Amino acid sequence: MRILSVLLVFLVGCSSKKPEGLRTVELLPGHTRAQHEATSQGVMITSQGTVSSQAGLEMFRQGGNIIDAAVAVSFAISVERPQSTGIGGGGFLIFYEKKTGKSYVWDFREIAPLKGHAKMFLKADGTPDPEKSIYGPFAVAVPGIVRGLWEIHKRWGKLPWAATVQPAIRLAEEGLPVYPHLVDAIKYESPRLKADPDAAKIFFMPDGSIPPVGHILKQADLGKTLRIIAKQGVRGFYEGSVAKNIVHTVRTNGGIMTAQDLQGYRAKERAAIEGSYHGFKIISMPPPSSGGTHVVQILNLLEQQNLSQWGPQHPETVHRIATAMQISFADRAKYMGDPDFSPIPSTELSSKSYAQAMQKYFGPKARPSKDFPLPAIPDDKTETTHFTLADSEENIVVSTQTINGWFGSGLVARGTGIVLNNEMDDFAQAVGASNLFGAIGGDKNLVAPKKRPLSSMSPTLVLKDGKPFLALGTPSGTRIISCVAQTMLNVLEFRLPLYDAVAATRVHHQWMPEELRIEKPFLPSAAFKDLEGRGHTVKRQALGCQIQAIQRVGNRWVGVSDPRGEGLAIGE
Ligand code: GLY
Repeated sequence: MRILSVLLVFLVGCSSKKPEGLRTVELLPGHTRAQHEATSQGVMITSQGTVSSQAGLEMFRQGGNIIDAAVAVSFAISVERPQSTGIGGGGFLIFYEKKTGKSYVWDFREIAPLKGHAKMFLKADGTPDPEKSIYGPFAVAVPGIVRGLWEIHKRWGKLPWAATVQPAIRLAEEGLPVYPHLVDAIKYESPRLKADPDAAKIFFMPDGSIPPVGHILKQADLGKTLRIIAKQGVRGFYEGSVAKNIVHTVRTNGGIMTAQDLQGYRAKERAAIEGSYHGFKIISMPPPSSGGTHVVQILNLLEQQNLSQWGPQHPETVHRIATAMQISFADRAKYMGDPDFSPIPSTELSSKSYAQAMQKYFGPKARPSKDFPLPAIPDDKTETTHFTLADSEENIVVSTQTINGWFGSGLVARGTGIVLNNEMDDFAQAVGASNLFGAIGGDKNLVAPKKRPLSSMSPTLVLKDGKPFLALGTPSGTRIISCVAQTMLNVLEFRLPLYDAVAATRVHHQWMPEELRIEKPFLPSAAFKDLEGRGHTVKRQALGCQIQAIQRVGNRWVGVSDPRGEGLAIGE
């Protein structure tokens, strides 16, 4: 079956082939290409978790629809990647409904507690206290995932709500084999996790050591919480014992979240950001994500640059991509925030006329970032997750979800197994002041009660002749925008087969810090010399993206789960 599947991928992918010399990443040890690339005329699921992708398939097999599958993947990935995402966090989801041709955009991003305010992350001397927005009780924003999934399922779901939570309950109770990335995350966050009694109990061995790869990690408390949510629905999270335990944990640690914050949380339906690239239509996430706006902006800027003449990894191409990123990230810093609190010019920024006006910034040499007279942006120390689904009717779901940094705030709500996010760090701590990452925040992204922190998450869909053609997204903070835009360029401009488009070496420039990051496998040293000769400060550094993408090729879906990660592309 697998051999047939690989053969089909080869056949449908024949319209485009990997250019000679293209640098692409290797799979992780022990992984096979068949896990990361699949083809199907029916349904397709790509996610960062093996069991999570299978949970989606299970819903389809039970007669459920793409929404049931999306809800099941969301709950399952909460268990399978507790370092990255979970019901203690928030996210975005776009549902493209084939029969109406409409894209429904859902925002279930976390919000600041009612007692939150613009100066809450400043020390007594008025300088920012980055630790406070990253670790502990003040870092926790009011979670949105369960409310968002509930609303989406209520409107479109077919299977009973409880059925969609079932695979996650099973995974939490029966356990999952610990994988290297989870070990790394536990190791890195050990001091914080050990300081929290619930986290220490769940994520370490009885003798306090780090669980080895292959150890079966059970999350019994999370299983209990999921059973409550399965039975009681949204109220099981935002009211009752679970809500009480979340508030207890935040408050006993000195934080400000209240029961009213949880009860008052609402998910929002928003209008998509729309754009185009050489006739392909782009649909992506609007503010409070900066993602969609800047993905469209980067592509608009590059549409006029005719990158095909050089090819995907030529220094000329990389230099122009870096310039487009510099312009876009400078704008992100100045203009982006929660649209419910101040007007955000996302339509203008993502317009063709703006891209035309900004062509003057492209030249043979790198421009110093100070040439862009704007404040810098906050970087994200982030994990996050993304999944993409397609079904036989050509409906699509793309969703990016997060608790922000590895294990979020490092707090687990008492007795619930819920890892609480640190999304408050996506707010600017102060205007014009450096945060932990040497970046600076803008005034539209200061904390205010019930405000959503600025995100980079970019679940994105591309239509060709009015039909779904490509759907994708990724984790990794500000790098999300760069990785999504480059993967789109690889498919739409360079016509690479999807696997190579995802596996190809990527670059990132976020204007501040003033550096062009290039990940492994590195470009040839001549390319580095060329870019340095143009004035770029080139840094060899991983970007952390793990694209989950689905493309329509002929009458089939091709799904690719980034070979950089542990995910699974599975079709049927
Ligand atoms: N926390 C990552 C993001 O929202 O972009």
